[in-house]
Amino acid sequence: MAIEVVARQESLAQLSGTVVVPVTPELQVAGWGEALDSALGAWFLRAIRALGLAGRVGQAGVLPPCDGMAAERVILVGVGAATQRTATDLRRAAAFATKLAIEAGGRNLAWPVVPVTDGSAAVAAQAIVEGTILASYRFHRYRGSETSSSLDRLLLVTADPLVASGLQRGRLWGEAVTLARDLTNEPANVLSPERLAGFAWEVASAVGLECTVYDHAALEELGAGAMLAVGAGSRHEPRLIHLTYRPSSPTRGRVALVGKAVTFDSGGLSLKPAEGMERMKGDMAGGAVVLAVMRALPALSLPLEVHGIVAAAENMPDGGAFRPGDILRTLSGKTVEVISTDAEGRLLLADALSFAVRHGAELLVDIATLTGACAVALGRGGSGVFGNDDRARDLLLRAAAEVGERMWPLPLWDEYRDALRSEHADLKNTAGRWGAAINAALFLREFTAGRPWLHLDIAGPAWAEQGGVFGPAGATGHGVRTLLRFLELWAGRDEGPPA
Ligand code: BES
Ligand code: MN
Ligand code: ZN
Repeated sequence: MAIEVVARQESLAQLSGTVVVPVTPELQVAGWGEALDSALGAWFLRAIRALGLAGRVGQAGVLPPCDGMAAERVILVGVGAATQRTATDLRRAAAFATKLAIEAGGRNLAWPVVPVTDGSAAVAAQAIVEGTILASYRFHRYRGSETSSSLDRLLLVTADPLVASGLQRGRLWGEAVTLARDLTNEPANVLSPERLAGFAWEVASAVGLECTVYDHAALEELGAGAMLAVGAGSRHEPRLIHLTYRPSSPTRGRVALVGKAVTFDSGGLSLKPAEGMERMKGDMAGGAVVLAVMRALPALSLPLEVHGIVAAAENMPDGGAFRPGDILRTLSGKTVEVISTDAEGRLLLADALSFAVRHGAELLVDIATLTGACAVALGRGGSGVFGNDDRARDLLLRAAAEVGERMWPLPLWDEYRDALRSEHADLKNTAGRWGAAINAALFLREFTAGRPWLHLDIAGPAWAEQGGVFGPAGATGHGVRTLLRFLELWAGRDEGPPA
């Protein structure tokens, strides 16, 4: 989708395509200023009454244009009162407008940049661009479509030239989410660990990141026994992908983003039930988020060294598969007794976290579709956030709130650690059914070497069972925008860096 700004007050009457007319609870049309002459205004106001719109975010209606307008159609969309309108509201309103435009067959959308209370016109522009990109996303490459958007063009109309920066940001963030969704939706017969690694390499060379990929032999040399075990039952060997962003400015810290990328999780010998198993192609959502964030990083020029570490494997049950009862030696040296081969994500992450520690990470952030239990606890809409560093966790939750992704803290209760004790190894990989999300997090903590660490369990929100306003059914890219915002905050953009 092409996104343009017309940094001047274009006349509403002359715009073609689908034109958005924002509506406030005062039942006024907003955003088009002087260009909205009273004749057009009266037409819209009559329509607003006829459609029963109250100007709230979430309300929208489609109209034919009135005489004297070049547009194909008009979308009236509630944007809330000017005194209370946040970027989150505007992002939602943009998504609603996009949904209606697409349903009506429109492919070109024009929006006036209406103000928000919590930021500049650039912030408002970002919200519109982001909402539009998220809502217009489609994964139709196997249905003959070449683009991943069902819109062709978004035009932002404003008299404020500063919106260009917001547009760039909105596009960067939106396209990062699109990439994470595309990778996650891609089926496992196409996207193996090896292909994912090849793709990461391409991304790295396109945007200027360092990239190292560890194949089977390299993983053996490294001693990544847990990763090798998870991948052992598949013809597609595992890969550890390591991308590095080095800032040109002096760095204010070294962060590792660690993603679980199980390209397909059959459960292995602890086989999952057949029903719904197809969704397990999305078990690499965490890794996809990490790749998407890494691709966007160079454009943000943050003074942080960021390591993107993606542990990719396919969890399958062939004759070479690892078994319940196996004892694995992880990269850290700790041994793990396998109770369930379906608790494979924590095994991959164990080695990937140790790898991050080895590379000197001062903050570890892992993201994974780790436990069904987390989705049971918080529902499909939000992810669980664990961590041993209050400052990092608070910044992450703040970032999530700002970008409109639901994330919520869950506890790391030391007492529960006992349940991971094994008779014959340092740890076992599962501890029963109660508190399974917490147990998984406690398992990961064993591999963080006491470094500041955050763990995001995105098992619920990574995948949408049904389409919503921010996108169709399937991969959501949940976590991308939060992590981008979090890295900005952590780098000290808005507030001081870590002490
Ligand atoms: N990938 C799954 C978790 C998952 C489940 C993600 C549903 C998305 C939707 C993970 O590998 C897994 O199988 N976890 C087990 C852990 C159990 C064996 C302790 C689970 O949640 O059942
Ligand atoms: Mn599993
Ligand atoms: Zn899994």
